[in-house]
Amino acid sequence: MTDAGRLQAAFDRVRRTDFLPANQLGFAGEDAALPIGHGQTNSQPSTVRAMLDLLDVQPGQRVLDVGCGSGWTTVLLGELVGPAGEVVGVEIVPELVSWGRENLASYALPWARIEQADRDALGVPETAPYDRVLVSAEASRVPTELLDQMEVGGLMVVPVRGRMTVVRRTAGEPEVRHEGWYSFVPLVEP
Ligand SMILES: C[S@@+](CC[C@H](N)C(=O)[O-])C[C@H]1O[C@@H](n2cnc3c(N)ncnc32)[C@H](O)[C@@H]1O
Repeated sequence: MTDAGRLQAAFDRVRRTDFLPANQLGFAGEDAALPIGHGQTNSQPSTVRAMLDLLDVQPGQRVLDVGCGSGWTTVLLGELVGPAGEVVGVEIVPELVSWGRENLASYALPWARIEQADRDALGVPETAPYDRVLVSAEASRVPTELLDQMEVGGLMVVPVRGRMTVVRRTAGEPEVRHEGWYSFVPLVEP
């Protein structure tokens, strides 16, 4: 579990309103996913909190944020890893990459960045390995391509066919456990 005090501090410092389009600002306080255009959403706050808690993020870690959309999770992760860490957000919709980068730029987190996703490859293998991988879109299976981008001992949190799934990479078979049911936009899988 991520330390509850550090998680709360990150949510206190990072305003959801900085990651919503103007027509959604009035709904920022609602515990619901909100549209950000291009058929995508800014995730439900309680779900983001649950996922970040399961991810057990520690200061100084390297984190991959797959499906970073508005950039909200990238900034929250940037706050959690701190200046000794690194966060790589990756997003498949080019317009959201631009907007997410603008949103990220309003926070002083030079150790976090957003990359354009490659339609032919999941994640960002060029700068692997990562200690943690957060996936904010629903996969049809545990994405082994992302598992390959993790350190041994690393954790991934990913919704798989509706079930929140926590995967630990080990030297052998990955350890997989499930943590409830959630609804997400689909992950584009190569
Ligand atoms: C729930 S939405 C955004 C979540 C984001 N954390 C937020 O709160 O704004 C999930 C995002 O995953 C993106 N996505 C889907 N498949 C992807 C892929 N293969 N690589 C990168 N991003 C992907 C979608 O375009 C969408 O923006």
